[in-house]
Amino acid sequence: MRRNKLFFILLIIISLRIISQEQQSSLPIIPFPKECKLFPGNFVLSSSTKIVATSLKVQNEIDWFNDYLKTYYGFTLQVVDKEPKNGNYIQFTIPDWEAGYKENYHLTVSENAITILAEGNSAGNFYALQTLIQLLPIEKGNALLIPCVQIKDSPRFEWRGMHLDVSRHFFPISFIKKYIDILALYKMNTFHWHLTDDQGWRIEIKKYPKLTTVGAWRKGTMVGKYSDHKYDSIPYGGFYTQEQIKEVVTYAAKRHVTIVPEIEMPGHAVAAISSYPYLSCTGKQIDVEKGWGVFEDVFCTKDSTFQFIQNVMDEVIPLFPGKYIHIGGDESPKTRWKVCQQCQKRIKDEHLKDEHELQSYFIKRIEKYVNSKGKQIIGWDEILEGGLAPNAAVMSWQGIEGGIAAAKQKHKAVMTPGSHCYFDHYQAPASDEPLAIGGYTPIEKVYSYEPIPNELNAEEQHYILGAQANLWTEYILNEKHLEYMALPRMAALAEVVWTPKEIKNETAFLTRLQKHFLLLDKLNINYAKALYKVESKVSPSTTTKHIALELNANSSLGEIRFTTDGTTPTAASLLYQSPIELEKDITITSALFKSKELKGKIASRNYSINKATNKPITLKTPPSKSYNYGGGFNLLNGIVAKLPRANNEWLGWGGNDLEAIINLENKEEISQIQIGFLNEELSWIYLPKEIEFLISDDGKTFTSIGKTTVKDNRFAKLQVTKIKTTYVKIIATNFGNIPTGNPGAGEPAWLFCDEIQIQ
Ligand code: ACM
Ligand code: ZN
Repeated sequence: MRRNKLFFILLIIISLRIISQEQQSSLPIIPFPKECKLFPGNFVLSSSTKIVATSLKVQNEIDWFNDYLKTYYGFTLQVVDKEPKNGNYIQFTIPDWEAGYKENYHLTVSENAITILAEGNSAGNFYALQTLIQLLPIEKGNALLIPCVQIKDSPRFEWRGMHLDVSRHFFPISFIKKYIDILALYKMNTFHWHLTDDQGWRIEIKKYPKLTTVGAWRKGTMVGKYSDHKYDSIPYGGFYTQEQIKEVVTYAAKRHVTIVPEIEMPGHAVAAISSYPYLSCTGKQIDVEKGWGVFEDVFCTKDSTFQFIQNVMDEVIPLFPGKYIHIGGDESPKTRWKVCQQCQKRIKDEHLKDEHELQSYFIKRIEKYVNSKGKQIIGWDEILEGGLAPNAAVMSWQGIEGGIAAAKQKHKAVMTPGSHCYFDHYQAPASDEPLAIGGYTPIEKVYSYEPIPNELNAEEQHYILGAQANLWTEYILNEKHLEYMALPRMAALAEVVWTPKEIKNETAFLTRLQKHFLLLDKLNINYAKALYKVESKVSPSTTTKHIALELNANSSLGEIRFTTDGTTPTAASLLYQSPIELEKDITITSALFKSKELKGKIASRNYSINKATNKPITLKTPPSKSYNYGGGFNLLNGIVAKLPRANNEWLGWGGNDLEAIINLENKEEISQIQIGFLNEELSWIYLPKEIEFLISDDGKTFTSIGKTTVKDNRFAKLQVTKIKTTYVKIIATNFGNIPTGNPGAGEPAWLFCDEIQIQ
């Protein structure tokens, strides 16, 4: 009996797989449905098609569908009581499953009729229509052909989220609605609205008008890379009135999207403190922040601050009908608390061990209040520090460990690890993209994400509510740019959280996605074409002493053409077939072509080949595990890192010095030694105090030939005349502990270095 059952399950899995392989590519539905069968024939949708909805409450969905048809096809459909005799109708009917599966739907398209099965008043009806609009032809017409299909669909996860930071850059209500429309297109059901931060408070609170007369405005904004430390002096800001928020909440509800508002505490509170300085430990007047980062002025733990937050919650909670209120909790430095009499008294009175337990006390106290109003809190994974509040859900962003820890403690968790779910990261090689915060999260990586960590047993897995992507907007300046960062990665995430794991298929997804781009064009949604990117990788050649350059792209999307003289490649340029041997300084410019058409962007990169390139290198202290891309070879691989940082172009040491010995293998005459360093104080990365260069003939006894410091925030260089040597040693002394007033104060600085070049 058991064997039979197993066999049956296996058969289902296999048949699902077969369906997915052959049909996923032909139907441009994203996220792909759980079960989907394609049949011959079409339904013809026209202005004479009728909607039959006698027994179900679906007016909201019908209105939405008619609006869509009106906007994009120029007609609407009439609603009638009975099935027309001659067919050609869309019918909403009661499902035969037991009640409670509000997101499930069946959609059957036959030549005669379209039938939608879902519970009344439910998201299922809406999702059926979202699937249906993806099956409509892109072109306008009087007779729209919809392929005959049978779809039975339901989501894999209950939390399918997208976040948006409106503090660093502000986005008006009109755009928030468009963003919600995009979420709805992908059957995402949770919009995490990050409403307060150091750079602007964005929600009207009637009891505290200064939050929006003062806290919503800053005197300027950081421009360009963080390391440039440049600001403009253009006043910047904006906020939403409570009336506008209500309007958005209603708009979202009609699209079955729940809004989770985030009110940040105890950190990321500068905008609030600048409005009401008594909220901080020092009570000093400070400005709304113009730049990015983590700041030391946080909410004090005195009673008057809690009273303020409770009063804010009293106005926030009634605006948002959802279950969760996000209370932030991330990146809250303890500097002020350590020297604040009131915070120290709090630690003593409450018998807390330290400031981490004080943070836990803070969150627990707020949780109690929020719970008393019938809501649950959710917070970033730092709320685990010092003990989790009894009913809190955790948003795991610093990797997946926070989610694992929460689930093991029987707390709900939403997975949003930086590695896969931060859409402010680059999605294609940084050199060809608009400035971003850093990181590298291409669409394939998003698609590959599995929200259930292996570490959890079957019972613990139930605590994983789902996953979410975050869009922090420090480097996202406007609506088009935001869409570009969100899409098409949001489409990939939608499939992660909706589609059964067994039928996910990257190749089929990318094929569907290319058809889906036409829909995005139609909806006037901007998106990146990063899937057509050409990635490059260098490694020591296996046959010569040179560096071998490998170019990679998805071969199902096109072929790589390249040039070696800096000119723009065309469909007639060299076809990339195997790794290119780099023998001298060279520029490789490449792009993807399909049927002679340029698909993505053109990528160009210089390779600097010199006496040190690809020579044996030893590092006295290995780089820190998280920043050890390729070991010592990374420093001699021909690639001078570009700014802003792409992690795989650097080696990083936490607190330690760099000491490298390069073996030139022959006695060489040298004239210059150069090495690059990174200055990125926001990320705790500091330039070294000093760099010393030494030489040796035996690799054992070294003689110093000079010391220097980093020039122009980037390179340390030593010029010499007619020195002959076999070994070169470079020692770069770590900056030491981070000075007070800077992010990470008191912690050991990081030392990041890149290419060593010897001429
Ligand atoms: C975060 O990215 N600071 C949650
Ligand atoms: Zn204090």
